[in-house]
Amino acid sequence: MELDMHKPTVLVTGGAGYIGSNTAWLLANKGYQVVILDNMRYGQHFYPSWARVILADFADQTILDQLFTHYNVQAVMHFAGLIEVGRSGKDPSTFYQENVAKIFNLLNKMREYQIDKFIFSSSAAVYGTPKRIPITEEDPCNPVNTYGNTKYTVEKILQDYSHAYGLKFVALRYFNAAGADIENMLGERHEPETHAIPLLLEAADKGEPFYIFGDDYGTPDGTCIRDYLHVKDLAVAHYKALKYLDIHKTGIFNLGTGIGVSVKELVATVKRITGLSVEIVVQGRRDGDPDRLVADATKANQILGWIPEYSYIETIVADAWGFYQKKDISMHCDSDQHCQQRSTF
Ligand SMILES: NC(=O)c1ccc[n+]([C@@H]2O[C@H](COP(=O)([O-])OP(=O)(O)OC[C@H]3O[C@@H](n4cnc5c(N)ncnc54)[C@H](O)[C@@H]3O)[C@@H](O)[C@H]2O)c1
Repeated sequence: MELDMHKPTVLVTGGAGYIGSNTAWLLANKGYQVVILDNMRYGQHFYPSWARVILADFADQTILDQLFTHYNVQAVMHFAGLIEVGRSGKDPSTFYQENVAKIFNLLNKMREYQIDKFIFSSSAAVYGTPKRIPITEEDPCNPVNTYGNTKYTVEKILQDYSHAYGLKFVALRYFNAAGADIENMLGERHEPETHAIPLLLEAADKGEPFYIFGDDYGTPDGTCIRDYLHVKDLAVAHYKALKYLDIHKTGIFNLGTGIGVSVKELVATVKRITGLSVEIVVQGRRDGDPDRLVADATKANQILGWIPEYSYIETIVADAWGFYQKKDISMHCDSDQHCQQRSTF
C-alpha cells in the first residue's frame, strides 16, 4: 500500500497479531491510514492490502524516525509484546525487556516528533487476585505474575510521561479476548497457544484431551470463571479510545462484559457449537489463577460510549471455530506485491 504523507495515520505496533490486526482493520475502515510495525514473532505472513506493514521491532529507532518524519502519525496503538503468563515467571528478563524497557524508545521518539496520543494494551492481570467481583478500575492493582507486573509498570510509566511531558494516553485493561472476525480471517494464531477457547477447539478437533487446571475453586461448578470479550468489540473500544483522546488527556478502562463463564461452561459450549466430544482431564491448580475475573466495564460504557455487541459466548465460540477450521489456508497476503514488501519505505 502506498502511503500518503498527509493522511491522518495511526501506527499500530503488533498489528500482525490477534487483537492488533482486528483493530487495524477497523481503523482502516474508519478512514485512517494504518501503518503496522510488527516483527512477526510467530513467523506470520501478514501483508493485507488495507495497511502498510513494516516488518521490524517496534523499538527500532531508525524505522521510527523514518515513520514519524515522513507520515502524519497522529496516534500510536501499542499491542506489541510478549503475552504468555506462564513463561513470564520463568523468564522475567526477557519480559521486562520486551514489555517495559523497549517502550522508552517508542515513547521518547513520540516526544521528539510531538506525537502525543498513545493507546496501550493493558490487562486484567494488573489486578492480581481481586477482593471483589466485578472488578472496577478503582480496585487495587496487585499483579501476581511477571506479565501483570510488566503491564502495571507500563501504566505507571505512562502516568509519569503524562504528568511530565503531556503524553495523552488510554490504558485498556482487557479481560479475556476471544472470538474472531471470520469474514476477514483475523483470529488467534498464538504459538504456543495458551488461551482456553483455541485450545479447546483444537482438543475437540484432534480428539485430544483438554486439561482443566483445578475443579475445586469456590465457583458453582468448581472451575475458574472468566469474562470473555469478542475481539471485534475490543477493536471498537480502541477506536472509541482514540476519539476520547481528542478531548481528554488520560483514561484507564476495563474492557469486559460483566458476565462470567466457567471453564466447564466453555467446554459445554464448544461441544454444542462443534458437535464434537471433548475429553476432559483435570489437573492441579496453576499458581496465581483466581476463582473469578469479571469486569465492571461501566466506566467504558458511560465515558467511551462502548457497548459490546458480539460478546455472547455462543457467538464467540462459533466465530473462533469458524476461524480455526480455515486458519491454515489463510495467509493474509493479498497479492505478491504486498508479500514482497518488507521493512522498507
Ligand atoms: N489476548 C488477550 O486475551 C489479551 C488480554 C489482555 C491483554 N492483552 C495484550 O494485548 C496485546 C495484544 O495481544 P494479542 O493476543 O493480540 O497478542 P499477539 O501475540 O497475537 O500479538 C502481538 C503482536 O506483537 C508482535 N510483537 C511482539 N514483540 C514485538 C516487538 N518487539 N516488535 C514488534 N512486534 C512485536 C508479535 O509478532 C505479534 O504479532 C498484548 O500486549 C497483550 O499483552 C491480550
